[in-house]
Amino acid sequence: MTDMATPAVEVQKLWRSYERGSETVHALADFDLTVRPGEMVGIVGRSGSGKTTLLNQLGCLDRPTSGSVMIAGTEVTGLSEAELVTFRRDHIGFIFQLFYLLPTLSVAENIGMPLLFARRHSHERVRDMCERVGLAERMSALPGSLDGGDMQRVAIARALVNDPALLLADEPTGRLERRARDGILDLFDGLRADGLAIIMATHDLEQADRCDRVIELRDGRIVGARAA
Ligand SMILES: Nc1ncnc2c1ncn2[C@@H]1O[C@H](COP(=O)(O)OP(=O)(O)O)[C@@H](O)[C@H]1O
Ligand SMILES: [Mg+2]
Repeated sequence: MTDMATPAVEVQKLWRSYERGSETVHALADFDLTVRPGEMVGIVGRSGSGKTTLLNQLGCLDRPTSGSVMIAGTEVTGLSEAELVTFRRDHIGFIFQLFYLLPTLSVAENIGMPLLFARRHSHERVRDMCERVGLAERMSALPGSLDGGDMQRVAIARALVNDPALLLADEPTGRLERRARDGILDLFDGLRADGLAIIMATHDLEQADRCDRVIELRDGRIVGARAA
């Protein structure tokens, strides 16, 4: 169950700086962001503006130079590496432009993989997720027999099988044709209605239009924000 009162994301004064030779690059500079359950936020900005750095911070894949990162009510900057592994597994889903499905495993096996790692595999849960993303008829298919839109649906079901509060998406429809892309965005709408927060880096302005909010980054800072 999603706790609708607790923000999915609450970031304050976040800095991520890199030393490059004698120079310091601030990939994120004094960054603040709050995202509520059910919100979809688009992140736009030129290459090098800090989008991937931000997703990596929110996904607990990288530690900040300074600042606070709360995900679903937990301050993650204080967690150990071992705690982060479990935290990521249970609270955060990731999808990417390339779907990273395992080609020799069926749709159902791909989706069930995170449950295996969590030692809580359940055929029922896998079947529910297949239905949720519209793949109930393709459970035993191999990924290679699916079109791009359905491959991304498998990746989404896999990302959500452990019931996270937050879905992070790096150009999730960048490789898809319009129809498949619209189908994925429709699916996101249904997931948001259930309280999932979605943060999506995108170059696609039409896709950004379907977000509740769009944040534009430049040099690690917010230079523009608008409600859709
Ligand atoms: N591991 C790293 N080491 C040094 N600099 C980095 C590293 N990762 C990102 N940067 C720098 O941080 C800035 C933001 O990069 P990034 O988050 O990848 O932007 P985007 O995803 O918007 O293209 C860029 O100036 C990039 O060169
Ligand atoms: Mg990037």
